Amino acid sequence: MRFFLDTADLDEIREAASWGVVAGVTTNPSLYARIGGKLADFPEHIQRICKLVDGPVSAEATGVTRDDIIAEGHELAKLAPNVVVKVPTTVEGLAATKTLSAEGVNVNMTLCFSVPQALLAARAGARYISPFVGRFDDISEDGIAALTDVVSAIENYKFDHPVEIIAASLRSANHVTQAALIGADIATVPFGVLKKLVSHPLTDRGLEMFEADWQKVVNAQ
Ligand code: G3P
Repeated sequence: MRFFLDTADLDEIREAASWGVVAGVTTNPSLYARIGGKLADFPEHIQRICKLVDGPVSAEATGVTRDDIIAEGHELAKLAPNVVVKVPTTVEGLAATKTLSAEGVNVNMTLCFSVPQALLAARAGARYISPFVGRFDDISEDGIAALTDVVSAIENYKFDHPVEIIAASLRSANHVTQAALIGADIATVPFGVLKKLVSHPLTDRGLEMFEADWQKVVNAQ
């Protein structure tokens, strides 16, 4: 499983990229607004992200109609070769995905919550599909079970283009663990979750024990 960072924060991207673990980024205007960005500067910001990341950068279109999504998709795709246009899983989104994909633009269909939505996204030409996990948990349903179903269903079929599942809306190390056991191709995580993935109490304990043993050796000399 590869890791994408779900953020618009350049410092977070730089830091995580320095660890050698970031294969891509997913972002949207809301994440940009969270760090004080304005919608008008979003395209320029996507270019900044694309320069930092050697991998796909999903940038979300904000349009609702197919024509608006397609027009926005064209503008986003022009920004950098690694831009992926993020499109919601709706009727209009499917129609826009069909057009953009046929033109060679990579699309990530997002806000996917069911097997039929995922299959339709793949058939429309989506290169990536993003089932959301945490949003199910928010309504006391099982997001990991829904992700399992999507991954299994997509694996059942051959498509005439590569299709990868991005497990999204992941909130915890357990979500990431489950996504990996299920076989999701990619996990997109906020920086806070990525940091939690690195640590384990036994690693900290191991370091403390090593330090204590090392001190004994030093003191004995
Ligand atoms: O890419 C956005 C998606 O990951 C949303 O996450 O935590 O807002 O459900 P969340």
